[in-house]
Amino acid sequence: MDEIRKYETIIFFHNGETITGPYREILSQHVREYIDHKLQAQKFQGKVGDLLSIDAPGYTPSEVILLGLQDDSIHVHERWRRSGGVLGRFLMKKGTDTIACVPDEQTESDSIEAFVEGILLSQYVFDKYLKEKKPVTFLENIGILSSHELSTSSLERIQVLAQAVHFARDLINEPARIVTPEYFARTAQKIADEFDLECNVYDEIDLEKMGAGAFLAVAQGSENPPRMIHLVYRHPDATHTIGLAGKGITFDSGGLSLKPTRYMLDMKGDMTGAAVVLATIKAIAQLKPRVHIHAVLCCAENMPSGKASRPGDIVRALNGKTIEITNTDAEGRLVLADGMAFLTQFHPDVILDVATLTGACVVALGTKIAGYFATHDDLAQRFESSAQHTGESFWRLPLEKSYRELLKTSVADIKNSANDSEAGAIQGALFLAEFVENIPWIHCDVAGPFILNKPFYEWPEGATGFGVRTLVEFIQTYENQTK
Ligand code: BES
Ligand code: ZN
Ligand code: ZN
Repeated sequence: MDEIRKYETIIFFHNGETITGPYREILSQHVREYIDHKLQAQKFQGKVGDLLSIDAPGYTPSEVILLGLQDDSIHVHERWRRSGGVLGRFLMKKGTDTIACVPDEQTESDSIEAFVEGILLSQYVFDKYLKEKKPVTFLENIGILSSHELSTSSLERIQVLAQAVHFARDLINEPARIVTPEYFARTAQKIADEFDLECNVYDEIDLEKMGAGAFLAVAQGSENPPRMIHLVYRHPDATHTIGLAGKGITFDSGGLSLKPTRYMLDMKGDMTGAAVVLATIKAIAQLKPRVHIHAVLCCAENMPSGKASRPGDIVRALNGKTIEITNTDAEGRLVLADGMAFLTQFHPDVILDVATLTGACVVALGTKIAGYFATHDDLAQRFESSAQHTGESFWRLPLEKSYRELLKTSVADIKNSANDSEAGAIQGALFLAEFVENIPWIHCDVAGPFILNKPFYEWPEGATGFGVRTLVEFIQTYENQTK
């Protein structure tokens, strides 16, 4: 325990009753008494999210931080991740770059990993446009004083994941005047070059040749031309192929079915699905699981203009189905229809798509929980256990077939929006289902958690990068599946 003497900031944990870990052995009696006194005065309860920082000038350590871990309603790993998130944000603002943590000996290494992940995830700011930036410091050294050390490989994995999440956040936070479909394609190409992925970019002429009429209908009102970006990750020993699709609307004005001002503000983030998929494949290229991945990013800008699609237009998608565009604001499902039909050509074992698809999903589940749909129960179970592992909350919604009739029209095979807004998130999913053939499929509607207006534990304000970690986890566990 002599090791402790070199740290100025030391972290102890409180389970709601007592400080856990070898706190009595480590701290001098004077500092301990000081802490006990502070604890009583501050009414520190030891709940997850509680943080008490105690300065002990003249002593080493000169700062002792107590973190609460008590919350019976959430999984133990999640308690540690959240507590790490609160600590990470606190230290980032305070300017601390080195800490030692003293968990008790019973703490599982999975909990410590979640804790470190929470710290790294929370240490994020998007301040590039501020003239006067508030100083921030990112943690460089985390000493864990416990007998079970974290393995280098699990630490590296956490770092890869946090970097991928931060990468997605940067792309989502960046305004739409910069992040156009062409910018997205350049970014994807750079990632592909750096991590040795195949990358093919299809422009409007290619999309026309391909027959991607739904995709083009969304893009045609904008000065910024669309791009469909196809990335491939291959592993020599792979036995499974996974298809990923991301909604990449770089700005969603609603088109001629124009959105009211307050709903338009966050729509630079309507490319979250594509950013999440790009960040996922970037992480996968570093973690190298034994699977093949085909990812498609469906990037277009949805704008009103003299060239824009009109309500009532009928277009033909890549798989030959015709669509009546009854609402130009239901554009995500149009680009994804062609993107997913494109993916089916590679015969993936499973397709996952990520999209900020419906306001209805936000109404149903709020900003902390994403909705997901699955064609098969076993697939849903696998997805859910991946989500549980990462602490991202996904709630399954039903693919209720009887609602399909809401999307019937007499002039085309399907319409993109019903007259009636009931079950809006389900309608979106049922529309997409028409374009995945019979391939097992998961659709994630992240319209709620893609952005937050204030920080929440490990999640920062602004773009969250929600979904990246669950997708990576799902893919990494998929390599062990049998056909
Ligand atoms: N991008 C929006 C959905 C959205 C809303 C994302 C709020 C994030 C936060 C999507 O393109 C959209 O406008 N959907 C419509 C569909 C409707 C017209 C059938 C919606 O939800 O109102
Ligand atoms: Zn829209
Ligand atoms: Zn949209």
